Amino acid sequence: MPNDMNDNGGRIKNIVSPPAASSTQPRLAVNAQKHDELKLLINSRNPIITVETTEEDRFEGLLQTLSADLGIPLFTWTITTGMTKWKGSPIYGTDELEQALANIALIHGEGIFLLCDVARYCDNDHVARRLRDLADAFRTERRSLVISAASIKLPPELECESVSFDLGLPDANELLPGVNQVIAQVGHDQRLPITLDVSGIAQLAHNLVGLPEQEALRTLRKCLLAHGKVDAALIDAVLDAKHSLTREDGLLEAVRRDASFADVAGLQHLREWVAKRKSALTPEGQRFGLAPPKGILITGVQGCGKSLVARAVAGEWGIELARLDAGSLYDKFVGESEKRLHRALDLAEKLSPVVLWIDEIEKAFASAGTSGDADAGLSQRLLATLLTWMQDRQSIVFLAATSNNIRALPPEMLRKGRFDEIFFVDLPNAEIRAQLFTLHLKKRGRDAAAFDVQKLASAVEGFSGAEIEQAIVAGLYTAFSQKQQLSTEIVLAEIRDTRPLSVTRKEDIDDIREWAKPRTVPAD
Ligand SMILES: Nc1ncnc2c1ncn2[C@@H]1O[C@H](COP(=O)(O)OP(=O)(O)O)[C@@H](O)[C@H]1O
Ligand SMILES: [Mg+2]
Repeated sequence: MPNDMNDNGGRIKNIVSPPAASSTQPRLAVNAQKHDELKLLINSRNPIITVETTEEDRFEGLLQTLSADLGIPLFTWTITTGMTKWKGSPIYGTDELEQALANIALIHGEGIFLLCDVARYCDNDHVARRLRDLADAFRTERRSLVISAASIKLPPELECESVSFDLGLPDANELLPGVNQVIAQVGHDQRLPITLDVSGIAQLAHNLVGLPEQEALRTLRKCLLAHGKVDAALIDAVLDAKHSLTREDGLLEAVRRDASFADVAGLQHLREWVAKRKSALTPEGQRFGLAPPKGILITGVQGCGKSLVARAVAGEWGIELARLDAGSLYDKFVGESEKRLHRALDLAEKLSPVVLWIDEIEKAFASAGTSGDADAGLSQRLLATLLTWMQDRQSIVFLAATSNNIRALPPEMLRKGRFDEIFFVDLPNAEIRAQLFTLHLKKRGRDAAAFDVQKLASAVEGFSGAEIEQAIVAGLYTAFSQKQQLSTEIVLAEIRDTRPLSVTRKEDIDDIREWAKPRTVPAD
């Protein structure tokens, strides 16, 4: 992948912070957007800033850069070291949090006070009172208490004094220095051959996006030791390792690109649309002024390749594919679902350029269109989050959504300008049905020339692609049990035994066709 596509369309540039004074950490690159967000919070005199993160070192690195940049001294308190001034010595008598807070009250002038893991002490009345007193005094100057912990729940009286800052996961540029360091170190220790060039190493960093920094570097180290070489195959190994790690999270799953347009029969118009827009992802196309496409919605008859073609877009464009599991968004805690969706969309932007695949999108947002439903409020808020994001995002995240029941979707989603195009996938015609037989016979190691494909194609009028595939699969079982080779006759017998959905659910299909005609573009 060209390097220029990694910087989120030029929006986020990264700067390198000075090395941490006393640690052996790799030089950390700081995300300029996060740097600016936090700077704004400090400059606007927020007395308490909370940060929920497990990446303490990375966050401290960001604060160090910011402290140098703003010329405001940085103090850090932890239970083991007490309070220390950055690049200075520990402050005597600050082991206890309460003493440290009393000390902070005595330090005059501007300051950033990072308090690690203090969330758990905030229930202590003395501590809570001191924090509130400090917050009161802090409002007039650039003095901020920054509370960082894996999870923070402040008492209500402190909650209303505080703002939260989302550190997010590192992007490829932030990971790059660590990646280089791990390669240099493991490569040297194990005397590994290194044949990967600079763009290959950048790709490695990109493939680790989605993981916290230390986990990313650990994964790389593990893959390096197992693989024994720094070569092109390591890039894939790292991607596989990340996929198996992110799968556990369940929300946004990086999917291996296993489908391409070669696997899809028909849908010619949709395929041409997609193929034509590939150039908008290239630096040349962008220089020419092509705007990257935003997304498509694919609807239509069940089993006709909607999910397949959505997945295949990533293969066609040679970019990553990530699936958003809309069902797993729902959380019983108020506000948690929106947070999860934000996190997933955030991550998708980090993976850019990427195809974000939301299958059966109506499942997450359907009730947003109806009122009176218990879930309606929640799905409305989720929908609003998604629509705002669709409007605002700058990075190349192409949304490929499918829907079996577009009628269930709220009208806001279908309004002009949301999706670049809404495609309707209908039952295949005779020519495409023949292609479907050829394709799926070949997929199972059979030569289509040995079959009467035309005869088969005319026998399956009204069948979907999935039903045609199913007839072949069932035929293979029959042939095997009869100790015969698969033949046209055997498949025809299976076809005669099948009642396709277009027969059993004729009204439904006529109905969606009718509805879709004026509102969508035919995929074929
Ligand atoms: N147009 C097609 N070309 C190739 N295979 C198809 C096509 N339509 C359906 N299939 C086969 O049927 C399976 C199910 O199709 P799918 O994409 O899940 O349908 P949908 O999402 O429209 O319900 C696919 O994985 C594929 O094997
Ligand atoms: Mg589907």
